[in-house]
Amino acid sequence: MNFIVRGKQPLKGEIKLAGAKNAATKLLVASILSDETSILENFPLIGDTAITIGLCEELGSEVLKDGNTVSIKTPVIKSTEVRSLTRRNRLPILALGPLLARKGMAEVPVVGGDKIGARPVDIHLEALKLLGAEITVSENSYKASAPNGLHGSEITLRFPSVGATENALLASVLAKGKTVIRNAALEPEIMDLIKFLQKMGGIIELGADRIIRIDGVSHLRGVKHRIMPDRNEAVSFAVLAIATDGDIFVKDAIQEHLITFLNTLRRVGGDYEVRDDGIRFWRAGKLKSTKIETDTHPGFMTDWQQPLAILLTQADGLSEIHETIYEDRLGYTKDLNLMGANIKVTKDCLGSNCRFAGKFPHRAEIQGPTPLRGARLEVPDLRAGMAHLTAALIAEGESEISGVEEIDRGYERIDERLKYLGASIKRVE
Ligand code: EPU
Repeated sequence: MNFIVRGKQPLKGEIKLAGAKNAATKLLVASILSDETSILENFPLIGDTAITIGLCEELGSEVLKDGNTVSIKTPVIKSTEVRSLTRRNRLPILALGPLLARKGMAEVPVVGGDKIGARPVDIHLEALKLLGAEITVSENSYKASAPNGLHGSEITLRFPSVGATENALLASVLAKGKTVIRNAALEPEIMDLIKFLQKMGGIIELGADRIIRIDGVSHLRGVKHRIMPDRNEAVSFAVLAIATDGDIFVKDAIQEHLITFLNTLRRVGGDYEVRDDGIRFWRAGKLKSTKIETDTHPGFMTDWQQPLAILLTQADGLSEIHETIYEDRLGYTKDLNLMGANIKVTKDCLGSNCRFAGKFPHRAEIQGPTPLRGARLEVPDLRAGMAHLTAALIAEGESEISGVEEIDRGYERIDERLKYLGASIKRVE
């Protein structure tokens, strides 16, 4: 599937955020911890949630969809093995905890690296082992067992990994005794998972210094939960408002989820007004260059550097993006250069403790401003795909973007929603 995009239209109007992909998928898996029905509202109808529903159904979940509300119930675990879906998303590894809690055994496929890096799961496995899981790794799968159930433990994560923190939470909430997770990730999507688990009956304490304490309970119930709005969508739309010199009200955007991004936006010449029900974005004046480094929350998120890079191609001066979360997340800049950008990617960086220094092309220097022109582009991965679409929307002339299924994995009906703001986008088979 392709998008044909004609750029240079200022995008104006109101757009409502969908529910967060990276919360919705985890909540589906978390619901399996209980045999009762959970209801998820503000559920995003995107490729990744469809894949995750498929995963849950394979394990025995009964799922009903009614618009953006999904009800999910897993009265019995029909299978402890995730066979299919091997490389379609990275969610199967999170099913280990719920399957061990309910059946004492689990087998999930090995998820390999992808277009943004190697993406190992060693930190996940280490945490599960500390909780009492025995894990054997074969070429194609991780096989885990805990015949007597999992037990509480002291876990210190080597890196505050989002997925490993979620895995440790999902595995410890029903474990016997107390668990402490140190150096935990604290992304808003993790807070949404914690809220969901707490409503289900979990006892989860948030301490200072990235510490999460869990008192294991013996049973969790089904609950109703409204999924948090997608902050990555918010950033994409904010950048579109400023890059196209438009004016967009992003309904449901939450300031608290975007603090670092909002500061960066103001530094580069964007402006915004925080309202009760969302945030309005527009351009304040000439765009200025800046330097950012991606980081774990509350730092500048890795999923925000791609849209920011587009904006920086239009800013005056030399900007810099230092990617410290994924080793290979700047590949999309090649396509921007084809469109007229002037971006140099290097392995060097000034970060004294940077684990990628000298090893991976993880630092981009963007010399602006450079007008962009339309091009034929192939979507490499989800966030880069949205960056391609953003670039096409500010470029002179027509672009053809292929492989938009990847964008559909994370953005609900993006073409239709952007058309309401005045974008010229056609979806073609
Ligand atoms: N890492 C390890 N070992 C592990 C786990 C992670 O070395 O066991 C490394 C990774 O290779 C990576 C870094 O730690 O270099 C960060 O990985 P993390 O586990 O924090 O990320 P994730 O859980 O795999 C989630 C989101 C990503 C988002 C990151 C960072 C989901 C499904 N994915 O990934 O979102 O970029 O957190 O916030 O929640 C996206 O939505 O397109 C996306 C990639």
